[in-house]
Amino acid sequence: MSGRVRMLMVMAYIAVVCLPTSHTLTAPEDGFRMPSPWAWRCVSGRCVKEDAAGQVRLTTFNMCKLTCGTEGMLWPRPVNAVIGDQVTLFLPWKMTLQPICQGEVCNLLHEAYDIFTDTLQRYHPHYANGRAPWTGPWDAATELQVLQIDVTVVENDTALTLDTDESYDLTVTTGTDVISVLIIAPTYFGARHALETLSQLVEYHETADALMVVPATVSDVPAFPYRGLLVDTSRNFVSVAALERTLDAMAANKLNTLHWHITDSHSFPLFLDSLPNMAYYGAYSGSQVYTPAQVRNLIKYAQVRGVRLLPELDAPAHVGNGWQWGEKEGLGQLAVCVNQEPWESYCMEPPCGQLNLANPNMYDVLGQIYKELVQLFSPLELFHFGGDEINFNCWNTTEEIFKFMVDNGYGTNESAYYSQWAVFQERARELLHEAAGGRKVPGVLWTSHLTEPEYLESLNPSQYIIQIWTTKNDSSIYKLLSRGYRVIFSNYDAWYLDCGMGAWVGEGNNWCSPYKGWQTVYDNSPHDIAFAETGSPYTDQILGGEAALWTEQVDDATVDSKLWPRGAALAERLWTNPVTTWKAAEIRFINHRQRLVKRGVQAERIQPQWCHQNEGLCYLSEPILGCGAV
Ligand SMILES: *[C@@H]1O[C@H](CO)[C@@H](O)[C@H](O)[C@H]1NC(C)=O
Ligand SMILES: *[C@@H]1O[C@H](CO)[C@@H](O)[C@H](O)[C@H]1NC(C)=O
Ligand SMILES: *[C@@H]1O[C@H](CO)[C@@H](O)[C@H](O)[C@H]1NC(C)=O
Ligand SMILES: *[C@@H]1O[C@H](CO)[C@@H](O)[C@H](O)[C@H]1NC(C)=O
Repeated sequence: MSGRVRMLMVMAYIAVVCLPTSHTLTAPEDGFRMPSPWAWRCVSGRCVKEDAAGQVRLTTFNMCKLTCGTEGMLWPRPVNAVIGDQVTLFLPWKMTLQPICQGEVCNLLHEAYDIFTDTLQRYHPHYANGRAPWTGPWDAATELQVLQIDVTVVENDTALTLDTDESYDLTVTTGTDVISVLIIAPTYFGARHALETLSQLVEYHETADALMVVPATVSDVPAFPYRGLLVDTSRNFVSVAALERTLDAMAANKLNTLHWHITDSHSFPLFLDSLPNMAYYGAYSGSQVYTPAQVRNLIKYAQVRGVRLLPELDAPAHVGNGWQWGEKEGLGQLAVCVNQEPWESYCMEPPCGQLNLANPNMYDVLGQIYKELVQLFSPLELFHFGGDEINFNCWNTTEEIFKFMVDNGYGTNESAYYSQWAVFQERARELLHEAAGGRKVPGVLWTSHLTEPEYLESLNPSQYIIQIWTTKNDSSIYKLLSRGYRVIFSNYDAWYLDCGMGAWVGEGNNWCSPYKGWQTVYDNSPHDIAFAETGSPYTDQILGGEAALWTEQVDDATVDSKLWPRGAALAERLWTNPVTTWKAAEIRFINHRQRLVKRGVQAERIQPQWCHQNEGLCYLSEPILGCGAV
């Protein structure tokens, strides 16, 4: 190592970048770094890039990011945070965990700690294969520092419910030879969130090849108990590895619900031990299948990361492939209109399919699927029934169903079919109730004709949560809230992440274009929407929100860039529920995108790197009134 580089490292420790004045630069050797004439200064909460020659008190880029501004680079923004302006260097293997906990919580904490240490390794620019090449030599003070993490979890619950307290308190103080981290949380989930926050108070020090931590006091609690992302694995298969990567990123953003739209009319990728025919007929291929063991592992993987899995088995529409085996097994047609054409007459998008209302065996199969789902997703805290986009023409033109309607005296007009749909939903709810051994599992339903005022009374507000996917100005929102339903917002004009592509049937743009930019995602406030519609923010009934990624045009290759970093914008809306708009969050957001990439998520770029290095300069001026208008 050259004397000049060693000099740089020593100087870096006292947070001053000192640069050579002569410029006899040669091309950097492989794995080596070229010196830079630039450094950063924190000016009114912004990192400003300056020529470092002859200047003092400038810092490295990462250090400026870590220490500049009232909440540093924390994402989502905590409710309360006080961040210091000096850092302490330490080495990633000089950390200890001292947990105070009971039972299973202790095991979870150790796993969360392993994730935390891996995360810190990833900050190294040469992270590869699970480790980074820390080379040193380090300043003696750096080598001596130990980061000691004391975590106290008060309760021993390990199930994440809508009532779980996810709050935490975190303090980081620096002393001689020890950096002391204190975390206190009522539940494991709060403690886990605290470790995420701590991982954002640490950065890689570019000139010292060590980590640095900034002193801080954080006291934090989420605004909403339901902070979700939907991933559809039926339109296209999404691998377990990609789902795990999604959970990693959700954890980094303190999102807590992965709504898994497992099946649809296109494919049935879930292998069920008691009904192997479903995946046998319904999977795209023998390898595009989730096994029960994989699902159990995924649930555990999610739990450690503070995420619950919410399974959806959409019905009675959005079924088809996977249900074709009934007649061969002597059970009659379980689903009708499967893959029927012309599709436009029988469903919303190809391929068609709906459950056969007239066949009692269909209910036996549905009940069996629920039984297995309840066992698999144990303990099931929430279930999604789907329940959207019925096509009456499909049912009405199927002879068996038409006859069933006439013979039972139900009639065959629209209201007759609505009534039978409501009967189906009630039967489905009873089947889930039985499957859960009589336990009350709240069910979620999409807004649909069944949630319109005329039919709403068939749905008991204590049993159902309604997920709103209409536009934010839809009058049904008012009706649902005023009738006492708990709701989850997924209004498609802000929170559908699949919008803004070319069409996949025909030409032009896809149905919900344009693309929803992160600014739109960020500014979509459920309380404000409720207030605009009703004059009340309905804080008790709004459980939270969810961004949906329907996968007609997504698979493993693009799932990360569709979800991220926009999922992070959603996360701050739901965790912090800020009164400020995206503009106040932009600098942190751009930095957080970088962090996600370091952590292994292929998040989309939002701006040129120049904007990251020159904070706040990629703006659009407000139009000057009176000048050149008209
Ligand atoms: C959890 O705590 C309760 C009392 O607070 C106790 O009854 C129970 O045995 C504990 N469970 C475990 C797994 O430690
Ligand atoms: C549907 O048919 C029933 C009788 O079968 C009738 O009472 C009802 O008014 C009809 N509804 C509509 C909207 O036509
Ligand atoms: C069902 O078919 C009958 C007979 O063709 C027709 O009178 C009725 O309007 C249809 N119902 C619906 C909901 O389309
Ligand atoms: C709701 O907003 C959409 C645009 O998002 C607009 O096309 C529609 O007309 C609005 N509807 C009402 C009832 O205001």
